[in-house]
Amino acid sequence: MDRFEITGPTRLEGTVTAAGAKNAALPALAASLLADGTVTLSGLPVVQDIRTMSRLLEHLGTETRWDGERLALTPSGTAVKDDADYDLVKTMRASILVLGPLIARLGHAKVSLPGGCAIGVRPIDQHLAGLEALGAEVTLEHGYVSARADRLVGNRFRFAARTVTGTENLLMAACLARGTTVLENCACEPEVVDLSRLLTSMGAQVHGAGTERIEIQGVDRLGSAEHRVISDRIEGGTYLIAAAISGGDVRLAGALPDDLRSLLDVLEEVGCRVEAECSSIRIAGGDGLRPCSIETAPHPGFPTDLQAQYMALMTQAEGRSTVHETIFENRFQHVPELNRMGAAIQVDGGHAWIEGPTPLSAANVMATDLRASASLVLAGLVADGTTIVDRIYHLDRGYERMEEKLKALGADVVRAQA
Ligand code: EPZ
Repeated sequence: MDRFEITGPTRLEGTVTAAGAKNAALPALAASLLADGTVTLSGLPVVQDIRTMSRLLEHLGTETRWDGERLALTPSGTAVKDDADYDLVKTMRASILVLGPLIARLGHAKVSLPGGCAIGVRPIDQHLAGLEALGAEVTLEHGYVSARADRLVGNRFRFAARTVTGTENLLMAACLARGTTVLENCACEPEVVDLSRLLTSMGAQVHGAGTERIEIQGVDRLGSAEHRVISDRIEGGTYLIAAAISGGDVRLAGALPDDLRSLLDVLEEVGCRVEAECSSIRIAGGDGLRPCSIETAPHPGFPTDLQAQYMALMTQAEGRSTVHETIFENRFQHVPELNRMGAAIQVDGGHAWIEGPTPLSAANVMATDLRASASLVLAGLVADGTTIVDRIYHLDRGYERMEEKLKALGADVVRAQA
């Protein structure tokens, strides 16, 4: 099992480029199931979750063919299998994103219920309620969700919770429904907008993606398309926070400042120098960091996927800050490990209080989920000594070549076999 050995303290300097967004690539891969033709995707990050989703699509009968960094996906049409089995789905809950496309294209689907994960129960009740609103007959048995519909019928549906993959599932399903669908209380994340761009290029009629209300006029078929996924704002934001915590000076290339506005505002508030251009962002750590409390929220609020990384930063701020995690019920697993490195963080439910600055000392720590792992890596950059981060397979799910990108910025990071 791989681990990172990170020797600090270190100061990051230079330019880093974010890979394609994992959370845009996953729905784009699932959307290929809707095509009566071939969907060619580029900009896909080389991370485990993308390999997992590709394997699932192949299991469902899709022909996949790499041409350089472009992946051509051709679903097998009527003969396609419709069951996403447990062994594949259990490793990645985003597999649920094949449910909507399969029902829309085939009229039936059987997908293993995604288990919860380290950060929470992760229900899919809104996915299922939305599909039922479009006329699908949904049954749950033996750990699987089965759904059938001769043809989905457009309808109005309001999400009871802001769900990113729920919005994406229903958006994809509604594209082939008969008539018009209006989705309300939708997630507004940039990844939803990117999916809408792909679907539109396939021939879908979608209006309002990126807002809380999306209207879809169903069509009879969707065709071939080529699409480059947007850059990963969470990966990019992680490196910007790495620059801030190390007091460094880093330029993030290929990033859209508007997608990270909430983070940039906070980094400015804590005392970093922020320079945002049309497709790059530069962060220079200030002399000393001011505390700034945050609350995670659906986009355009502060992203929950940057909460753990930001908490590591606040251990170095001069004073008390609070972090309120409002999206997931168990997303503080990085706290005990940060405290073992010398941080002074207290937790009560979804609230955390961070007293800083606390000098961090190197320790053997264990990654528990994708973003908590990133938080421990950032802490290792400033800790005195060599920090060992075990179980970095969590990181490999969503960060492309992290050790190489950090080394290129001046970090002393080694990937070793535990
Ligand atoms: C997406 O997960 C992202 N994953 C997550 O990124 C991200 O943390 C999350 O959105 C929030 O931004 C992908 O896009 C593949 P949700 P998703 O459904 O869509 C409740 C990462 O680190 N909810 O938006 O699965 C749920 O309990 C990952 O890259 C329901 O109640 O999350 C939670 O409180 C982690 N019923 C909230 O909504 C539902 O049917 C957000 O969940 C669905 C969700």
